[in-house]
This record gives sequence, structure tokens and C-alpha cells, in this order.
Amino acid sequence: MNGPNDFYVGREQTYIKHVFLRRYLETLAVKIMMGGWGAFNYVDGFAGPWNIRDDQGCSDASFGVAVELLEVVRKFVEERRGGKLKLRFCLCEKDPESERRLREYAAGKSGIEIHVFGGAFEDNLEGIAQRLPDGYTFTFIDPTNWVVRVSEVCDFLMERGGDFLFNFMTEEVARHSVNPKVAHQFGEFVGDPDWERTAQQLPDDMRGDLKVLHLLKDAFRSRGVANYLPDFSILKNGVNREKMRLMLGTRRPEGVKVFRDVHAKVEQEEFKIRREAKAFLTGQGMLFTSEYFASYEQGERGVGCKRYLDLAEERISEILAREHAIDFGTLALLLMEQFPLKETHVKDVCSRMKARGLLDFQLEGKARKPSDDTLITAPQGTDEGLF
Ligand SMILES: C[S@@+](CC[C@H](N)C(=O)[O-])C[C@H]1O[C@@H](n2cnc3c(N)ncnc32)[C@H](O)[C@@H]1O
Repeated sequence: MNGPNDFYVGREQTYIKHVFLRRYLETLAVKIMMGGWGAFNYVDGFAGPWNIRDDQGCSDASFGVAVELLEVVRKFVEERRGGKLKLRFCLCEKDPESERRLREYAAGKSGIEIHVFGGAFEDNLEGIAQRLPDGYTFTFIDPTNWVVRVSEVCDFLMERGGDFLFNFMTEEVARHSVNPKVAHQFGEFVGDPDWERTAQQLPDDMRGDLKVLHLLKDAFRSRGVANYLPDFSILKNGVNREKMRLMLGTRRPEGVKVFRDVHAKVEQEEFKIRREAKAFLTGQGMLFTSEYFASYEQGERGVGCKRYLDLAEERISEILAREHAIDFGTLALLLMEQFPLKETHVKDVCSRMKARGLLDFQLEGKARKPSDDTLITAPQGTDEGLF
């Protein structure tokens, strides 16, 4: 994709979601297929089609994006690696009319292994697992709201392994998590029937939707389906309010690094199209280029901006006060998971803190920055973490 085409006009958040899906999936699939796996499985639990414009090709639906991309990756890897690779798609959709269109799409893709499931994702998990006897599985969970039975989904993810991408619908959650009539559904969403009492233990000044997100991440972590759950927010069209958050669940440290690298690229695209849309709506010509504004916004809220570098510094000081010493690899993962930072930003923060006597580390040979096994320690004289 090279900028949003007509199919995405007015659906810029969906475009950003699909750009992210495409870029992350591309890196993952190349790595997995080149790495010797014989099969790659793509599971789209809430597939749609949903508000698409490309009725024929479904190129603006998540499954359309995935099918087109993974077929290209398969051919690319087969040419280089030799041999045949298996690619399987399991697409599930609850709405009968969308399911019908999904089946039509699958029928038009002869030669590609696509299994369509009608009904709720949670009711189809066993059937989907049966279609995936082996291989690496990537799962996309993209509901329209909070109505998801997460414990059952976790059982599936636990059994399948692999990375998953979860779309957390911030706006819907914020609006409805205070409604007592649907409190039980939020219990299912975060896998804790007593979730309201658990949420009371979180800081009072934490936003309600972020409390729900926190509990949801706890559910994934405690059930062992992910060690790392980085996320990033996508704003609502035309306003400075969060619409949704894309969250990756992975057990692989490498997954966190790729997530932030892709995040940094995708946000540039987001800043650019938001600026162009605003200029169009206000009827003002653009005095500066959208690239100029993209770099301006990047400095305000982008990956590695000053605000996140400052927060990283605070967090590192807290960790060192508690632990006294930590290897850089572990520290960088903690920070990259929590804040929009790439590994290189964490290296720079550590170097700057060292220069100011706020922490210490020794470098080997000609190295100028810490690497994974560099031990980062509290500055000499601060030994409260030891006792
Ligand atoms: C946000 S849309 C999906 C959009 C699609 N993933 C994309 O990016 O193009 C969510 C879809 O999930 C369907 N849905 C809602 N609850 C579901 C459930 N429990 N299981 C499966 N599908 C569900 C809705 O009918 C809708 O088509």
C-alpha cells in the first residue's frame, strides 16, 4: 500500500490498522517461513467484511490484506528456500450476511486454502484448531467492541502458540465499562468476574479504559499466552481522541522490537494523512508540506519523543533503585513494551544518564553504547536496592 486509496476515504483508522497488520505480518512471515517452518497459519477471528468498499476484491478487508500479502511472501520464500510451503487461512465471522460474502470471497480464491467459519469466534475455536494440524499460527482478534470471551480465546492461543494482534476498542470500552448492565460482559472480556473490585486496586487517577486494558493484559500474561504486550493508539478521524489500540501478544523479545519498528513507520503515515485530511476539511491550502507536520507531531507524541524519553528515565531510576542492577536486554524490553520507544532510544537514554552520573555500565572494546548483556547498575553510593 502506498498511501490510502479511495477504498479508505473516511476510514483512515482502518487504513492505519491494515498498514500495521500488513507490515508486522510481512516481517513475521518472512522470518517464520525462511526459518524452516513448513506451514504458516493466519487466523482472523472477527474477519468481516466490515464497511468495505472494494466489494469485488476485498482488498480493504483485513483478510484481503493478509491473503494478498502472505501469498507474495510464500512465493518469495519458495523461490529462495526451495520446496513447497503450506499457507492456511481460517476466517471466522458472526454476522450471517458478512459470512456469506466471506464464503463468496473464499470460493473465488481457488488454489488457496481458506476455511470459513460462521458464528462466534469463541464457538469455533475447536473447529479452527482441527484445520491447523501443524505450523506457526498468527491470530488477529479484531472485535467491534468488548464482547469477547477472553478465557476461551486464551485456551486457543495457549494451544496454538504464535503471536497475536488484538484490537482494543478504547472508545467503546470507555463509554460502556461504567454501565452496570454490561458489567458481566466486561468480566468475560478481562477473564475475571470480580473485575470491578480488582480495578479498584489500580491507581485512582488511571483512566477507566486503561484500567480495563491493564486487566486484559494481566489475563493474557497470567494465562501464559504472552510475555510481552506492547500497544499503540490510533486516533479517531479528525479529532485528537483515541479510537482504538493495537496490542501485540508475543513470547518473543524480537516481537517487541519489530512491533516498535513498525509502529514508528506506521505513525509517520498516520500523522501525514491526518494533516492532509485536516487541510482538506478546513479548506486551507497547506502552507507547509504534510511531511513537515508529520515531523512536528512526531516530536509531540511520536515514538522516541521527549515525553517518552523523560518517562523512560524515570522508569529506569525506579528499576535501579529496586533492583540495583539489570542487563540492558531485559531493561530495554521492559521499556519498549511500556513506552513508544525503539531499542536505539533506550540506548541513548542510558548513555545520557551515565554521563550525568545517574547510572553506570562498562563497555567492551570499541563499543560506544550498551548491548543486550551489558550490566546496567545504579550509580555508586546508592545501595538501598541491596538491602
Ligand atoms: C471490526 S469488524 C472486523 C474488521 C476486519 N477485521 C478488518 O479489519 O477488515 C468486526 C467483525 O466481527 C464480527 N463479530 C462480532 N462479534 C463476533 C464474534 N464473537 N465472533 C466472530 N465475529 C464477530 C462483526 O460482525 C464484524 O464483522
